[in-house]
Amino acid sequence: MYFSTVVCCILVTAIKEVLTIITSGLFTIRTEGCTIPGFSKVTERIKMIVAAPPLTRNCTAPEKLVRANTSHIWVAHEAIDSYNVFREDTFYCCYKHFSAPINLNNIVYSECKEFVTVIKVEHEFVQIECYHLDEVIYTDFFLFDFHKEITTNSSHSQESFNVLILGIESMSRLNFHRTMPKTASFLKERGVLEFHGYNKLGDNSLPNLFPLLTGFSYKYVKKICVQNSIFNVDKCALIWDKFKEKGFHTALGSDSIAGLLGNYEYTLPRIPTDSYLQPFIFETRKLFRNQQYNFHPCMGSKYFYKVLLDYIYELAQHLTLHKFFGIFWEESISHEDLNSPHIMDESYVNFLTKLHKDNYLDRTVLIILSDHGMRWGKIVETEQGRLEERLPLLNILFPEQFKQRYKLAFYNIKHNVHRLTTPYDIHETLLDLLNPNSLDDSKIKERSRAPSLNKSSLFVPISAIRNCSSVGIEEHWCACRRGEKIKVGNKMKTMAATNLVVQINKLLKKYSQCHKLILSYIYDVYLVEHNGNWRIYTAMVKTEPGGGIFDGTLIQDTSRWLISGTVSRLNLYRNHSDCVENEDIKLYCYCC
Ligand SMILES: *[C@@H]1O[C@H](CO)[C@@H](O)[C@H](O)[C@H]1NC(C)=O
Ligand SMILES: *[C@@H]1O[C@H](CO)[C@@H](O)[C@H](O)[C@H]1NC(C)=O
Ligand SMILES: *[C@@H]1O[C@H](CO)[C@@H](O)[C@H](O)[C@H]1NC(C)=O
Ligand SMILES: *[C@@H]1O[C@H](CO)[C@@H](O)[C@H](O)[C@H]1NC(C)=O
Ligand SMILES: *[C@@H]1O[C@H](CO)[C@@H](O)[C@H](O)[C@H]1NC(C)=O
Ligand SMILES: *[C@@H]1O[C@H](CO)[C@@H](O)[C@H](O)[C@H]1NC(C)=O
Repeated sequence: MYFSTVVCCILVTAIKEVLTIITSGLFTIRTEGCTIPGFSKVTERIKMIVAAPPLTRNCTAPEKLVRANTSHIWVAHEAIDSYNVFREDTFYCCYKHFSAPINLNNIVYSECKEFVTVIKVEHEFVQIECYHLDEVIYTDFFLFDFHKEITTNSSHSQESFNVLILGIESMSRLNFHRTMPKTASFLKERGVLEFHGYNKLGDNSLPNLFPLLTGFSYKYVKKICVQNSIFNVDKCALIWDKFKEKGFHTALGSDSIAGLLGNYEYTLPRIPTDSYLQPFIFETRKLFRNQQYNFHPCMGSKYFYKVLLDYIYELAQHLTLHKFFGIFWEESISHEDLNSPHIMDESYVNFLTKLHKDNYLDRTVLIILSDHGMRWGKIVETEQGRLEERLPLLNILFPEQFKQRYKLAFYNIKHNVHRLTTPYDIHETLLDLLNPNSLDDSKIKERSRAPSLNKSSLFVPISAIRNCSSVGIEEHWCACRRGEKIKVGNKMKTMAATNLVVQINKLLKKYSQCHKLILSYIYDVYLVEHNGNWRIYTAMVKTEPGGGIFDGTLIQDTSRWLISGTVSRLNLYRNHSDCVENEDIKLYCYCC
């Protein structure tokens, strides 16, 4: 019985695979519940857009007055002249270390330790200030490899694997291939699984990150898990807490203050993980803030994303004997510009190659993913761009040992790359990695009997009848094609576009500081689906004042027009929305 089922499955899968090969190119995925059209990396329509040079500048900085190696900080006397120090007897530097004992709202600095030539380093996060004639003439920050002592006492058992999650902000599957081809081929050569039908749940980071981190929807999180902007970790566990309970050494870090809930909109009540980079990132931004961007690419002459990669690598070197769960989020380069990730390709390959050479990847499940694709700029004015926005990167690399030990689980996940999947599924998958004995063949067989339609570990077969509404993807963000798009006639085109603007103005009604918007241009309107009682349209319009470009999905029933999901903003609002705090309203508001 057992054998015949397996043989049958393999046969059916083989046929499916042939079909997939034949249809690849035409379709991204094609299942009963969801068909996503196929695109190649570079098509005629986007050729010019993706060929534009990266916007991110190179990092340069004035000569450093203090320098450091791994154990000491010293004054670079050769640089002292360029700082106009004419009375060396009044010159000294000051070593302070800092930490966040409770959370990022309470960063505490030590007393100043004076030095004039060299000082030994004894802390992880250090600030140096140098004085001349009692005035601060130089400030700098240094990050050292003094990771908190490893307190977990469960070392690696045969069954457990490390989990290393590397987030790359605003990165679609295809943009990863376009901008980071070396990294992509490093992973491909090692048999990475690339998920084609990974669809975002909501517009920006949080609606996609919270489901991954908690297993709950963003709506639920906002209602139940957050009080006065403080996240209640006792009510809603975050995934790293679960790993910590199981004896993993946990780590969290981002190269930006906005990354991974870092005090952007939600304060974590206490330091979340055993190793935590954010206090450092938080303090350095005071110095390296670039006024033009929300995100700051450079820490002096070093890219912030490299600070992050170095941090991860050092942790990995310390933790060779311990179970490790780490989640890290790059944001400073890829958030702002479609083509800037080119800059990072070489460093990511080098980083992964080092982990590979250290045999670290032999014990580690590596997950490289994003929250959504690029949400603004020229690319989202194209159909391909709007699809890519909805289809973020999700790559998972398993070590050989894992594949051998959990054969059926690996067999399943390999075939789920052509299914419709969401961040909820990653959460479930992480829970399985937490309890590896749930992955034994017998358990997986058991669990495969009653597959869940909406939320499922990727280690069990995902149903082909899944569709966007069954997995909780908002209509507007659904990449599955629903019938043919038909360009609608002039009158309906204008009506749909006008109604989109009416709906946006309704959202702004309570905010008297925002201008009422008027329709200034209609890019396109499509009739997506209809029956006798209702019609679904998508419309892309420009409004004034402010020149905002918006894309929305509208439902027209017999008596009224409604918005489905969120209206997306396709260009930057920059400083036009400074008069409102609410992140959702900022998208639409043009301040009076
Ligand atoms: C940035 O650095 C790269 C590599 O060193 C160089 O090729 C490029 O011309 C530089 N770009 C600018 C704008 O200076
Ligand atoms: C770091 O610099 C200090 C002071 O210059 C020196 O004594 C020490 O040997 C250096 N350490 C390394 C690892 O280079
Ligand atoms: C370490 O081991 C001891 C006894 O073996 C146990 O009581 C304790 O809970 C463990 N600590 C952690 C952090 O796992
Ligand atoms: C989505 O799937 C559910 C459950 O299978 C089904 O009831 C619903 O009709 C489907 N929706 C669409 C739009 O096909
Ligand atoms: C998934 O389905 C279960 C049972 O039908 C339901 O309770 C749950 O709310 C659904 N979750 C999502 C995210 O739609
Ligand atoms: C917004 O920025 C632009 C240019 O960066 C500047 O000219 C303008 O005055 C700013 N507007 C406000 C309201 O700060």
